[in-house]
Amino acid sequence: MRTNMTLSVAIMSGKGGVGKTNISLNLGCALHQAGFRTLLMDCDLGLANLDVLLGIAPEGNLQDVLLGNAAVDDVLHTVDNGFEVLPAASGVPELIDMDADMRSLLLDRLEPTLDNYDFVFLDLGAGINDVVQAFASMVALRIIVITPEPTSLTDSYAIIKVMSSRYNIRDFMVLVNQTESKKEEQYTFARLHGACKRFLGIEPVLLGAVRNDRKLVDAVRRQEPLLRCFPGSPAGQDLQAVAARLQQIRMNMLDWLADRPPLTAPLP
Ligand SMILES: Nc1ncnc2c1ncn2[C@@H]1O[C@H](COP(=O)(O)OP(=O)(O)OP(=O)(O)O)[C@@H](O)[C@H]1O
Ligand SMILES: [Mg+2]
Repeated sequence: MRTNMTLSVAIMSGKGGVGKTNISLNLGCALHQAGFRTLLMDCDLGLANLDVLLGIAPEGNLQDVLLGNAAVDDVLHTVDNGFEVLPAASGVPELIDMDADMRSLLLDRLEPTLDNYDFVFLDLGAGINDVVQAFASMVALRIIVITPEPTSLTDSYAIIKVMSSRYNIRDFMVLVNQTESKKEEQYTFARLHGACKRFLGIEPVLLGAVRNDRKLVDAVRRQEPLLRCFPGSPAGQDLQAVAARLQQIRMNMLDWLADRPPLTAPLP
């Protein structure tokens, strides 16, 4: 019997532009550097931009796989000698509204490839449309990225509420991005945690925080991952720490992961 070792992780946020893609990309880099086989899937079918952050022009993408025009292995793009990226294409309207059959088809096509990785990150679009919900319900671990802005808090709460009521999912990890201080990190997390506990009976877990850092903006301009150009920067150090925590989490989850596929089938 095959034993699954792949930890699939969805990176989500209520509000757009909070740092999901940069976080996914750099966690992928960090884990690859630590010797883990890592895949990053751009699942933002509305506004894909992973390729832009990497300065690459992919020849094929997730949609080609979905439409049967290409095999998964043909559209994988290798970054830094081994860390792999599965690009998406922006603005393909019919695919934004993927139905359940298409999602199952996509899973069938992806599964043999996903098996090869220790970590698979799904960089999701912002908000909580059906595609986001479907992907988020398939993974083993959900990370919600929040920032200290009040709207980020309310929008993240909405995601947790929808995922719990519709899919009965109650485990969420939270990453606070763009923090100015430890105090701000703790305050931001405490507000979300407090609201979820009080109104939903759910207690999200703090995964870590990433400081607000000019170097990350510079890395975006250079179209390179932060951990490649400024690994010692404050945000770079924080992302390494989060990656180390994810290694630990995966170790602790291996028994549980063994009995499930890398991505579970979505509900209809
Ligand atoms: N820790 C940080 N320090 C400074 N700036 C940051 C940080 N994280 C994100 N940013 C800024 O936020 C911008 C948006 O980041 P990113 O594209 O990763 O967000 P996103 O959540 O993926 O957005 P979208 O919802 O559009 O997919 C970056 O280009 C950068 O300018
Ligand atoms: Mg993004």
